Amino acid sequence: MGNRFKTKWDSIEKPETFPTRYSGKTISMDFEELKAKVNVQEEKFVNTIVDSFYAGDAYIFKNAYPKEFLTELTEKMLEYGKQVPASYHKMLEGSPDFHRIIDEETSKLYPYDVIKHSYYFYNWNEDTFGLFPTIYDRWRIFKLLSGFQRNEYEENTPRDGVIDRIQIVHYPSGAGMLEVHSDPYKFQKLAFGCMMTKKGKDYHEGGFYVIDQENVKIDIEKDLDIGDYAVVFCTVAHGVDVVDPGVPLNWNSIKGRWFLSTFSNESNYTPDEKRHTAYSIKLN
Ligand SMILES: [Fe+2]
Repeated sequence: MGNRFKTKWDSIEKPETFPTRYSGKTISMDFEELKAKVNVQEEKFVNTIVDSFYAGDAYIFKNAYPKEFLTELTEKMLEYGKQVPASYHKMLEGSPDFHRIIDEETSKLYPYDVIKHSYYFYNWNEDTFGLFPTIYDRWRIFKLLSGFQRNEYEENTPRDGVIDRIQIVHYPSGAGMLEVHSDPYKFQKLAFGCMMTKKGKDYHEGGFYVIDQENVKIDIEKDLDIGDYAVVFCTVAHGVDVVDPGVPLNWNSIKGRWFLSTFSNESNYTPDEKRHTAYSIKLN
């Protein structure tokens, strides 16, 4: 079967009509239902969901992972972060997995303000934490839905131009945040990530928001549980509000918001001025 999502995306997608704001509508669906429907590609579903994303709707796909898998991962990442020194490697051939603390100083190197501790993993490395089989099982559904091959980019290395990268993000209590931005859409139409912690339990304030037509921040984090994906079209303005402002920042503590992100990135073999990347959005 060809990819009907691709045909549909191709028929409506034009940079000048990309959605830039949240429509006000959030649709919730079990991840298993999404998976079944994406695999079947029934025409009505294809048209409805693609039009809906393109109108700026947000989606919540529930229960995509067992909670224990994600909770244990946060503990393993924290431990790995303490044992292995932080470092940074560009997306070039042979890059190892690494983790990086992005504080106010390092944040200046990014196109938007961001405070986080990120752990990065590539498919060509050893997969010490057993991430890829479980995560690809879900990621492939989003690739199909976005009009790509189920296994698009999976075997790529940086010289191929576009590579898959898993990022486990810790937004620590007291500082973690991500400014309003638009994500690169060319190699991944949808910005999707999965919650690894729960607001109201693991942290109490802040988290994921989208910007509506009136430039107002709309919190959709309150409706998300551990294991749920939140998804919007990449160019719909979104960000992460400061997690637990006022709490003393401690990079060694597990406290805060943890998030599983998977992205098909243009590698650093493309010169910076030509790379298709995220950009910050100024609301005023
Ligand atoms: Fe984003």
